Amino acid sequence: MPATERNRNVVWQGGQVRRSEREDMFSQSAMTFWLTGLSAAGKSTLAFALERHLIDSGRACYVLDGDNVRHGLNRNLGFSEADRSENIRRVAEAARLMNDAGLIVVSALISPTVADRDMARGIIGARDFREVFVSTPLVVCESRDPKGLYGRARSGELAHFTGVSAPYEPPEAPDLVIDTAQVELDAAVKLMAALIKT
Ligand code: ADX
Repeated sequence: MPATERNRNVVWQGGQVRRSEREDMFSQSAMTFWLTGLSAAGKSTLAFALERHLIDSGRACYVLDGDNVRHGLNRNLGFSEADRSENIRRVAEAARLMNDAGLIVVSALISPTVADRDMARGIIGARDFREVFVSTPLVVCESRDPKGLYGRARSGELAHFTGVSAPYEPPEAPDLVIDTAQVELDAAVKLMAALIKT
């Protein structure tokens, strides 16, 4: 049965608690930081450092990390274009729910295409979405190669690897650009935290 048919008889259930009430509980405005960039660009490091900083300053925050989410929610997805889109759609939907719960979300996914990031912005809502381009160049990412994946991609053992045998489209108008080879982690966290909604 197509999804449209499956969903026809499903009606949105409104609750008694509004998002603004939950945000007031946390004394914050919920939003999503969407970190995009190549594998080993430093997205996860930045995301977890931002989370640490925000929690330390009394905010309620949670990281949705690509590698981690692929262990559970998205464990049935691979790296074809369709699977990456579905990966991004599910994370965006999860971020939207978490924003509705009043939380600040930091997502760290390669999210290689403009179209998929636009989809994420559409799901989350432009008002709550801040795009952070982790622009660390391919040569730097490849020299780091913490998981040996670039090596395996270059030897042809691993197909469709972003930056080597699959495309990465840089954001056209990101809210922030961070090259982790140029900017210290503390400084990068401050730049991201300055994007917080007040
Ligand atoms: S995305 O393209 O769908 O956004 P995601 O961020 O979830 O990717 O996962 C990327 C992580 O999966 C990389 O950090 C890397 O460790 C691992 N990985 C395994 N195979 C690939 C591949 N073919 N391309 C990119 N990353 C891969």
